Amino acid sequence: MTSQDFIKKEDQYGAHNYHPLPVVLSKGQGIFVWDVEGKKYFDFLSAYSAVNQGHCHPAITKALNDQAQTLALTSRAFYNDCLGEYEEYITKYFGYDKVLPMNTGAEGDETALKLCRKWAYVKKGIPENQAKIIVCEGNFHGRTITIISMSTDPDSYKGFGPYTPGFTVVPYNDLDALKKELEDPNVAGFLVEPIQGEAGVYVPDDGYLKAAAKLCKEKNVLFIADEVQTGLARTGKMLACDHEGVRPDILILGKALSGGMYPVSAVLADDAIMLCIKPGEHGSTYGGNPIAAKVAIAALKVLKEEKLAENSEKLGVIFRKEMQKLVDQYDMCELVRGKGLLNAVVIKPKNGKSAWDVCVALKENGLIAKPTHEHIIRFAPPLTITEAELMEAIEIIKKTLAQFN
Ligand SMILES: Cc1ncc(COP(=O)(O)O)c(C=O)c1O
Repeated sequence: MTSQDFIKKEDQYGAHNYHPLPVVLSKGQGIFVWDVEGKKYFDFLSAYSAVNQGHCHPAITKALNDQAQTLALTSRAFYNDCLGEYEEYITKYFGYDKVLPMNTGAEGDETALKLCRKWAYVKKGIPENQAKIIVCEGNFHGRTITIISMSTDPDSYKGFGPYTPGFTVVPYNDLDALKKELEDPNVAGFLVEPIQGEAGVYVPDDGYLKAAAKLCKEKNVLFIADEVQTGLARTGKMLACDHEGVRPDILILGKALSGGMYPVSAVLADDAIMLCIKPGEHGSTYGGNPIAAKVAIAALKVLKEEKLAENSEKLGVIFRKEMQKLVDQYDMCELVRGKGLLNAVVIKPKNGKSAWDVCVALKENGLIAKPTHEHIIRFAPPLTITEAELMEAIEIIKKTLAQFN
């Protein structure tokens, strides 16, 4: 079968809820992927930052293989001999009392919202059903009904109402607006992405997160960080919040928590918050399963052992410097922004050509990336990339943009 055959099959039998770049991948190793015709590509999406550790990392693959042959799933109706070890490992790794294991990022966010509301009623004393959670304009936290109820992007929410109430939207990176909303005594939490990834890699001003966390603390409001995309070394620190020394009251992780091997997400908090949820009030059949536990430990170990945050920090500086040269040279490149190896280039359409056309041309030249919001290309390679490989990839980006100018 050719790429066209595979594309046709997906088109015929699969729901049309994605618009993939026309490339059919059949193999991945480290920072590279190969299509069914055997062509090799630099992967500059990393499955939306799930594959920070590189494709099919041997240590993570081994953890998956070993546990899959031993015990895969018990449900939480019973204990298993992997979960406790993982819970101890991840809570000590990030410095929290407790973890609540889930599977996808969206479930992690849902869990955090439930936890925050429960805390609001049990601990803060907000009257039942009155709790409000402040969220940011341009947010992306996943695709469930409650999560799209917080969204300001019509592509996410339009046509899916009625929506879940209880959310107040403030502009991102606007402390005055946050301060004003925090005056409401029924506010329980502030949910924020330390960098807005899906919105187009919007980096807030230095000091925003720290000041926002302080404002929340003053009002006894939980600071909830969605680090599903920004976490786990992607932005040059283990957590994006670490850039400002902020410790969220509730931390949400996903994606790279399994290195792309398996759906694993987690919510971390201290006892005063986490123990507000009682047996039977929340859970998931697969959450905390033995494979997920082993895979997550392996994935977290790789991040530290291979110093991926440090590599991301160092190479991110080089990447943005090189992209800035393109911004200076070509009017189609409007600006570059990002942190670590989570970066975006904003594309100004030219001669009817958009970010999509640039991504198709990049693919032809051996590098895959995906536009977000039509005019933005996110560049996020696996964090295992070396400087020499990064420079090679940058040459492909330069050559491709030259074709449009
Ligand atoms: C910040 C953030 N939160 C949550 C999610 C949802 O994760 P998932 O697709 O695993 O549900 C995403 C996905 O891109 C994300 O970027």
